[in-house]
Amino acid sequence: MAERTPIRLGVNVDHVATIRNARGGYHPDPVRAARAAIAAGAHGITAHLREDRRHIVDLDVERLMKEIDAPLNLEMAATDEMIGVAHRLMPHAVCLVPEKRTERTTEGGLDVIAGGEKLRDAVKALSAHSRVSLFIAPDTGQIEASAKARAAVIELHTGTWCEAVMNSDERGAVEEFKRLVEGAQLAASLGLEVHAGHGLDFDTAELIATLPEIAELNIGHYMMGEAIFVGLDAVIKNMLAAMARGRARSGATA
Ligand code: PXP
Repeated sequence: MAERTPIRLGVNVDHVATIRNARGGYHPDPVRAARAAIAAGAHGITAHLREDRRHIVDLDVERLMKEIDAPLNLEMAATDEMIGVAHRLMPHAVCLVPEKRTERTTEGGLDVIAGGEKLRDAVKALSAHSRVSLFIAPDTGQIEASAKARAAVIELHTGTWCEAVMNSDERGAVEEFKRLVEGAQLAASLGLEVHAGHGLDFDTAELIATLPEIAELNIGHYMMGEAIFVGLDAVIKNMLAAMARGRARSGATA
């Protein structure tokens, strides 16, 4: 049988920093968590440097670049300050996300259409050293605008779907999953690499991994929560196993 296209796991370590920052100081260290995640088989690390530095701080990103032997995906808003940080550190990937100070987590996707020329310029400048990804809703207009902006990657926002699943909103979940399927297909047909993330747990990660176009999942909050009960090593291995089960059902070929 032909080999299936691989799917990577990027581990978001933001909430290790959330716990550290609750008390200040150095413990628990998100860089140590990143090291443990890679040792358990994760393919990369994701960290979101927010404008208000509520979890990850600049030194964390610098240390993740220096001390972790795996690709770093830096999530950030397309502000002049963050673009400056990315130019200085040149991470493997930059994922541009919308950011509001008042939100608890990233709400909704980036509006690439409204971002216009300024966003296109940011994509161009960052692409000189990093793979640029745009975090968007599975919306036809946003996917087409991302391709026009010449991003290498889009990350489909799975938050609405995961929330519908969590709330047992079956109709909403079916509708949103259909949007993700169609969005992934459209993006791949436009030459974009397709990632997905936000709100994923073992079950939703297994299901989204069945989409053959999806090359990477970025997952944080659920895994860090689970790690309290079973440890990070076990969580990462269980998540990789869930993704492999999903991929095995995808019918994808290399
Ligand atoms: N991908 C992006 C672009 C995000 O902003 C986040 C949240 O920081 C995630 C993935 C991970 O989401 P979660 O922590 O819900 O798994």
